[in-house]
Amino acid sequence: MEASGTRALNLSKEVRSEFMKTRVIRVDPAEPDPRAVEEAAAVIRGGGLVAFPTETVYGLGANALDPEAVAGIFRAKGRPADNPVIVHVSRPEMLEPLVTSVPPSAEKLIFRFWPGPLTLLFPKSPAVPDIVTAGLPRVAIRMPDHPAAHLLIDAAQIPVAAPSANVSGKPSPTSASDVLEDLDGKIDVVLDGGPCEIGVESTVLDLFGNVPRVLRPGGIAKEEIEEALGVSVEVVSTEVHLEGAPPSPGMKYRHYAPNAEMYLLTGRPEEQRDMAVRRAEEILKNGQSVAVLSSSENVPSYLGLKDKFPGLFHVLELGPRSDPAKIASKLFASIRRADKLGVSVILSESFDEAGLGLAIANRLKKASGGKVLAPRPSTSAQPVTVLFVCTGNTCRSPMAEALFKKVWKDRGGTRDMRTFSRGTGALPGMPAASEAQEAMKKRGIDMSGHISMPLLPVDVESSDIIVTMTKAQKDAILARFPKAHGKTFTLSELAGEVIQGDVSDPLGRGREAYEETAALLEKAFESIAPRLLEHPVLRKEDGGKTE
Ligand code: TXA
Ligand code: MG
Repeated sequence: MEASGTRALNLSKEVRSEFMKTRVIRVDPAEPDPRAVEEAAAVIRGGGLVAFPTETVYGLGANALDPEAVAGIFRAKGRPADNPVIVHVSRPEMLEPLVTSVPPSAEKLIFRFWPGPLTLLFPKSPAVPDIVTAGLPRVAIRMPDHPAAHLLIDAAQIPVAAPSANVSGKPSPTSASDVLEDLDGKIDVVLDGGPCEIGVESTVLDLFGNVPRVLRPGGIAKEEIEEALGVSVEVVSTEVHLEGAPPSPGMKYRHYAPNAEMYLLTGRPEEQRDMAVRRAEEILKNGQSVAVLSSSENVPSYLGLKDKFPGLFHVLELGPRSDPAKIASKLFASIRRADKLGVSVILSESFDEAGLGLAIANRLKKASGGKVLAPRPSTSAQPVTVLFVCTGNTCRSPMAEALFKKVWKDRGGTRDMRTFSRGTGALPGMPAASEAQEAMKKRGIDMSGHISMPLLPVDVESSDIIVTMTKAQKDAILARFPKAHGKTFTLSELAGEVIQGDVSDPLGRGREAYEETAALLEKAFESIAPRLLEHPVLRKEDGGKTE
């Protein structure tokens, strides 16, 4: 590369781009008008830049045989020069001048999957400029399955180099308006053929190792390739490569990154949902806005937060867990939508990694930069001890203990859970109030054996979490027991969605007051039971990567 030549080119392009107006040419995605497409093809032949729809994402195309035209792609996207681009063809014959050989396994895959979202590596011929492959000996080629893309390449009569048509590092565009958001004024034409069907990019496959290797999971599943070739296929680590030599240059850069801080929720779908609700609420209470990328199944669980924090909380539905194709098709658009809403934080659910799910997981991991919110692993070896405290230990705290145990059991809590109750000012040896016993009896709980106990230092030490009915009780405990710090909470701090302020003493307020208190406690525990084990003070064995 001669520095002066590069510089001159930069300057002239800069001057040009100041005057560049991006033209939008609309076409029917199923039956594109050949005359409209010919306009775009002429721009490609003339060395210009055309964004066009494919079945995966929009590509930013240029004449693959013209190094200056390809340099324009890198400039418009701000793409690092060591990240090669894919060459797009419209017929298998177009392959021949670009490559020096086609292995039999490639032939098989071409026959089976082209046109379609499968990109294959081939030894490049001298006809392919070095800038296309970033100096590598192999060129990546695919045949897109979209009438407009097919017609464009056919009309141009040249292979079209095209990375995804986004600014480097941003989520890939799945509509013409996504392209314009990133590249308006920087490219000549957008061929608008509506939204892309698949929504994640092609699978990039390297057939030149000992075993075929997927360098980027995408629209064709690894399982489909294995089935076609009859051999097992390796998937190169989908983690973000930051150091060392990655197998595919694209792996080392940050990809698909939204402006918002993004976290990926892991664990079972219900765990993801509960973590999302809890995390979102914390963030929202801090005055920041949040979007959740949700499975259809979990959407209803988030609606409460939407009502509670109008305008600050958004739920973006990806699709049912059983329909990865739907989820893939909405993935990038939803990340872009979250950015348009201007949220500070995106929490995304994660999905099964079979089939197309692998590509979805890969994009979500990269978009979140590897930031994960994981539930604490529940092990039966680690019992959790919960201590309920009121003042006299004759009504509120024994009812709380009994109801918590019941809710925990009813909900199938498997973790070994120990509970007990005490009073900050309790006289020892008193039975539970008769009205409290009655309220429990109605719920099938026998509390006749309860005897009151005052809170002692050993109780504080032996519990993992201490739950008080009132703020005054919490303050009294903290004042008397240094070891209670950090693990003592009022019930309203844990279940603010059900209980605001103190759980007041029903003593002397009649039977109804006891019944009301019992109902309130039950409701609070139903709300917190699913997420209690994920409370920070109960997460003893975090292993670093959890919340
Ligand atoms: O679905 C798609 O593949 C879309 C549409 C427009 O066709 N294109 C696309 O291109 O996603 P791009 O540039 O965003 O991603 C191409 C990926 C990168 O990870 C790149 O590093 C890898 O393919 N790649 C390209 N040429 C390569 C080569 N010669 N050797 C190894 N990896 C290569
Ligand atoms: Mg890309």
